Amino acid sequence: MVGLLEYSDRAQAGVQEKRSRWWKLNDGQREVRIMPSSYLERLNETSNLIKKNNQIARRILDYSLAFYNIPFPDLLHFQSAHRSDPRPIGDHTSVIQSLKHFVRDWSTSGAHERDPTFVPILSTLETLSPGGGGDSRARQKILVPGAGLGRLAYEISALGFTTIANEYSFYMSMAHRWVLSLADHDTERIQHTYYPFTTWWSHQRESRNVLRGVTFPDAHLSSEALKRYTLLEGDFTKLFLDDRERGSYDVIVTLFFIDTARNIVEYLQNIHAVLKTGGTWINLGPLLYGTGPWVEPSLEEILQMAQRLGFELLPTDDRFGADSFNNQVSEWRGKVRGCLAGYSWDKESLSRNAYEAQFWVARKVR
Ligand SMILES: C[S@@+](CC[C@H](N)C(=O)[O-])C[C@H]1O[C@@H](n2cnc3c(N)ncnc32)[C@H](O)[C@@H]1O
Repeated sequence: MVGLLEYSDRAQAGVQEKRSRWWKLNDGQREVRIMPSSYLERLNETSNLIKKNNQIARRILDYSLAFYNIPFPDLLHFQSAHRSDPRPIGDHTSVIQSLKHFVRDWSTSGAHERDPTFVPILSTLETLSPGGGGDSRARQKILVPGAGLGRLAYEISALGFTTIANEYSFYMSMAHRWVLSLADHDTERIQHTYYPFTTWWSHQRESRNVLRGVTFPDAHLSSEALKRYTLLEGDFTKLFLDDRERGSYDVIVTLFFIDTARNIVEYLQNIHAVLKTGGTWINLGPLLYGTGPWVEPSLEEILQMAQRLGFELLPTDDRFGADSFNNQVSEWRGKVRGCLAGYSWDKESLSRNAYEAQFWVARKVR
């Protein structure tokens, strides 16, 4: 929580750092005739927008303090007790990443990332449970580990399924809970605008791009859908070891998740263990192995491991991407598909951050 408390100070320090680097230019270079005055103006405007972003950070913080029943003075005490720690306790990068995720999950600016990835997943769920009348969907338990700020999990619960979102990062979880707390208010009144690009000055075509506001949430959140929705905070590999959790889920949906594993074999074992026999695993995502992975298997090796664990891959619709094994005599032909999927892909910028994310649907047969 300290990261949210200190968001403004740390973000302003970043602007100050940019300002002091601007001063490294010599007088002639800083002169208006060479360096446009817009640069310094942008720094000043960024500083103002951080004050607005801080209002969002404080809302999340206030909501979280109330939710976890932590008195504000206790947080201040904790902050001062750790002030001289060699590593700062409030992780500013995690705060920035969680705030940035509102764009991907809850704004129209993230629709180009969500649409190509959500459609294959949600369509598959609808096919698994057609009609959706009565309580049939509500009786099915869907687990979404690494749920980020919860948009996919929310859309699954809006289809009528009982949905358990799981998230490991505390900053993601706090923002996740807060955005869902905006449910069932009048969308016009509870929308917020913030300025997530103020920290990304690379790849900008137009100077004003970093000053753009993003309004969220773009969807009217239904408290009815949230009755079927739970956020479980903690490590996916630790939370579901209990006998009551083993074999208890009908579907697991992993979106941009499996490559976050340090030990992907453990992830696969866990996915298999928490599913009922006959249950379904839907995956969509890249293989961008993160911090210190113990192993970095190829797509083929992951599919082989899944089969050895007891999964059988199902045919997938060619609407959902190009066949990853099209040119091969392979048992996976027509089953695994690659679709272009962006992540933190700002359409206004000069960079393109996208993957050929792999989509598959597998049934636990044993
Ligand atoms: C690449 S992000 C994707 C988030 C979301 N699925 C999306 O597509 O926007 C991966 C997420 O998984 C979470 N995560 C990583 N390891 C985890 C673990 N062991 N248990 C639960 N969540 C984890 C991270 O905190 C992060 O929010």
